[in-house]
Amino acid sequence: MTVVKLGGSIITDKGVDFSYRDEAVRSIGRAIASTGEKVVIVHGGGSFGHPIAKKFHLSSSKPRRSSEGVSETRRAMFDLDARVCDSLLAAGLEPYAFSPYPLLAQAGRKGSAWLRAMLVAGLTPVTFGDVVHSKEGFRIISGDTISLSLCESLGATRCIFVMDVDGILDRDGKVISTLDEEDANRLMGLTSSDATGGIALKVKEALKMAASGTEVAFVSGFRPRELSKALKRVRFHGTIVRVPSRD
Ligand SMILES: Nc1ncnc2c1ncn2[C@@H]1O[C@H](COP(=O)(O)OP(=O)(O)O)[C@@H](O)[C@H]1O
Ligand SMILES: [Mg+2]
Repeated sequence: MTVVKLGGSIITDKGVDFSYRDEAVRSIGRAIASTGEKVVIVHGGGSFGHPIAKKFHLSSSKPRRSSEGVSETRRAMFDLDARVCDSLLAAGLEPYAFSPYPLLAQAGRKGSAWLRAMLVAGLTPVTFGDVVHSKEGFRIISGDTISLSLCESLGATRCIFVMDVDGILDRDGKVISTLDEEDANRLMGLTSSDATGGIALKVKEALKMAASGTEVAFVSGFRPRELSKALKRVRFHGTIVRVPSRD
């Protein structure tokens, strides 16, 4: 079982508000459909979720008491999700969209039994970054964090982060084929202008996955053949995470 995180950077153009990339998502969907792998898809907010979250000062780091903007942000995410599901349907998958919040609130393996049943039935569960409420208030929960939580509760073999770049890049913009802890620590210092911590949060969650036994890959969604290879667990052009040593 594989968790595929479709970054907002690949399903939308983050530079242009409400710009959806139908053809890119369709080709990703076709790659998933043709491998026949059991996949749970998580997508980000891209240029749908982030501009609205930002306007209302909603973020993943600072919870906010007021509910202002919660409805608007979620509305944009459901809009984006409908488009993603349309593209996946056109690609031959049978998406089953769900809000991640109840599952996260429940955490643990028992709560995800219905999700396994969906996979067995041949459906592709699809979820997305969401707005959640806790004692401290409302905050955004990133698709990257949801992916980590799903990997843990489903015992996923692999998580593939699909982005608009070929993998994790070094200072010269070259793809790091095997990311170790040292590379990761350097990246975790990077800041981002979006609502959920950008590449730093992604790498942080990826390291946690790797430490608990999930293989982690980063690949470009503009290269569906490389995604297919990553799904089949053969050599692909992109990044894998070297499992941190436990001693
Ligand atoms: N060292 C790096 N390696 C890869 N991507 C990077 C790096 N530094 C910044 N980025 C940017 O981070 C983006 C991926 O993170 P993020 O914007 O959160 O995307 P997503 O929407 O896919 O979650 C890429 O589109 C890339 O432009
Ligand atoms: Mg992101």
